[in-house]
Amino acid sequence: MSNRNYKIGVLPGDGTGPEVVGEGLKVLEAVSEKCGFGYDLVKYDFGGERYLRTREVLPDSAIEEFKKLDSIFLGAIGHPDVKPGILEKGILLKIRFELDQYINLRPIKLYPGVDTPLKDKGVEDIDFVVVRENTEGLYVGAGGFLKKGTPDEVVVQESINTRKGVERCIRYAFELCKKRNKRNKLTLCGKTNVLTYAFDLWERAFNEVAREYSEISTDYAHVDAVCMWFVKNPRYFDVIVTDNLFGDIITDLGAMIQGGMGIAAGGNINPEGVSMFEPIGGSAPKYTGKNVINPLAAICAVQMMMDYLGEKEAANLIEKGVIKVTSEKLKSLSAGKMGYTTAEVGDMVANFVSG
Ligand code: IPM
Ligand code: MN
Repeated sequence: MSNRNYKIGVLPGDGTGPEVVGEGLKVLEAVSEKCGFGYDLVKYDFGGERYLRTREVLPDSAIEEFKKLDSIFLGAIGHPDVKPGILEKGILLKIRFELDQYINLRPIKLYPGVDTPLKDKGVEDIDFVVVRENTEGLYVGAGGFLKKGTPDEVVVQESINTRKGVERCIRYAFELCKKRNKRNKLTLCGKTNVLTYAFDLWERAFNEVAREYSEISTDYAHVDAVCMWFVKNPRYFDVIVTDNLFGDIITDLGAMIQGGMGIAAGGNINPEGVSMFEPIGGSAPKYTGKNVINPLAAICAVQMMMDYLGEKEAANLIEKGVIKVTSEKLKSLSAGKMGYTTAEVGDMVANFVSG
């Protein structure tokens, strides 16, 4: 990666994925010219359409190819004609697990000009990051059925938490909090009052690692209270670390308070390997092909990718471009209500970056 030429895998995926990915790539092109780095794109058509055509979800050979990339840019996975779970588990979770992307990083930041549904809250109130464990917990699919479909049916679905998996996630969160150097406060989000095995491990690992970070103040909150505070007093948070399922849930709430899915991006990060960046909004089938979906989330995903690849100037420029557009141009972040088309929003950010 040090030669500043990056091999980027692109998975546009389903629904509006290809449209927003196109705008993200437009901005990538502009910023690469401006900042003087190169890249090669490797496109893959995995997703619902390909699955319906060929019954292939994501072959192991693709995973082997992904391992040779510098990073991956994903649009959206999910198709109305495919049973829920097949593509999500077969593509998205398979990539996260096989590439050991053990962090799901979700910045929750309200940009100037963006409407939050929280009355009386502004940009100074909403600026924090969620570090979600991304390879364990309830997501591993441990469990099964017994006597399925009968009155005696038994179902077990277990949350798997390993010391190694929990600790590396917590360490990442402490490091991020230190690097961010904002309020230097890390909150563990759990449910120690009920999940007395899983979050006992989390709490012990958290407290042990905390001893190595005297400059970071630590704090604990139950997941239900975290939801309450997101709405009531989001300013309370700086960095939050939590398990896979709780992280999934609270980051959708986080996306809403930062202005919605039109702006929410995330990174699936393997700090020692290949990471993947995505807008978190999903495939939005009803807006597909209409040129009305907001591409800013995908553009923010490219911004996160630049930061991850060490292209800090590029990341800063993109963020400034996004802020320019939210603060001076868009009427709303919602699909169809922006006052501009998908492509026009992409053009505005690209032009800012080039200018
Ligand atoms: C997310 C998504 C996925 C998840 C789904 C699509 C499997 O909601 O990235 O947050 O639950 O992790
Ligand atoms: Mn989710």
